[in-house]
Amino acid sequence: MTNNGQSGQVTLTPTYPDLAGKVAVVTGGSRGIGAATCRLLAANGVKVVVNGRDQSAIDAVVESIWDAGGQALGIVADVTQWDALEAMRQQTEQTLGPVAVVVAVAGGYGEPVPTLQATEEQWRYTVDANLTATFLTAKSFLPGMIERRHGSLITMASSAGRIASASSAAYAAAKAGVVMFTRHIANEVGKHNVRVNCLAPAAILTEQSKLNQVPEQVRQQVAAMHPLGRIGTPADVALAALFLASDSSSWLTGLTLDVAGGRVML
Ligand SMILES: NC(=O)c1ccc[n+]([C@@H]2O[C@H](COP(=O)([O-])OP(=O)(O)OC[C@H]3O[C@@H](n4cnc5c(N)ncnc54)[C@H](OP(=O)(O)O)[C@@H]3O)[C@@H](O)[C@H]2O)c1
Repeated sequence: MTNNGQSGQVTLTPTYPDLAGKVAVVTGGSRGIGAATCRLLAANGVKVVVNGRDQSAIDAVVESIWDAGGQALGIVADVTQWDALEAMRQQTEQTLGPVAVVVAVAGGYGEPVPTLQATEEQWRYTVDANLTATFLTAKSFLPGMIERRHGSLITMASSAGRIASASSAAYAAAKAGVVMFTRHIANEVGKHNVRVNCLAPAAILTEQSKLNQVPEQVRQQVAAMHPLGRIGTPADVALAALFLASDSSSWLTGLTLDVAGGRVML
């Protein structure tokens, strides 16, 4: 392996043999960081559930995985809704078997409005999309892992939840909540040999990213805010998720890994 340090693109896929044959669910797997995570897991022989709310985006990722020789199943579910999550879990178990890995990527930035101008609706939407969705995902999938005494849940925070930034306060608070939720639940389920860890990316250039719409000069300024001198890629985050999914990280739980090019050093 590994990824090219200059560009952040994966040139050779790292392999974790213990992952082969396992079942993973990636919420928010239909785009960006989640899609990159689905592809890396599938390249490691994992049977991957690609989740999102848009069937055509899901289909594109599922197809690309089958084309590359992997196995994937697409499931539409809004992970802010308990019933939808439970239906996804049941469909996954019936079709692919017990779930060993969940990567709870689904979430969203929310409009970066000044805090006192934010509406209650905007606040609740962002907290639901990021923090409540993470809680519901854990609530749905952890009991099976506890019963089987094996599993890895990976949650998704953000550098916005680690240091003050230009993001909305709701997003920052929700992502900081994900960090603390991860520690809390990791502490509860560790005795069952179930691990829960968190990723906190800084600026990652995805297709949907607002960074795609700004002039090159602004992108360079953002890159310069990171000691490693570049903006992150979805692959940078997916590589960290892969490690936390595998037994190679079997002594790690409750950790928040800042995938941040050095922007966050806590
Ligand atoms: N990109 C960054 O710079 C960055 C930095 C730090 C943290 N993050 C975090 O990383 C995660 C992924 O970010 P990204 O940039 O890759 O985002 P993205 O490209 O917008 O993708 C978001 C994914 O989540 C899905 N999703 C959103 N809400 C959902 C819901 N309620 N139920 C099911 N699926 C849902 C989306 O699918 P549909 O839209 O089709 O539903 C899509 O697959 C988010 O939690 C984000 O906060 C991103």
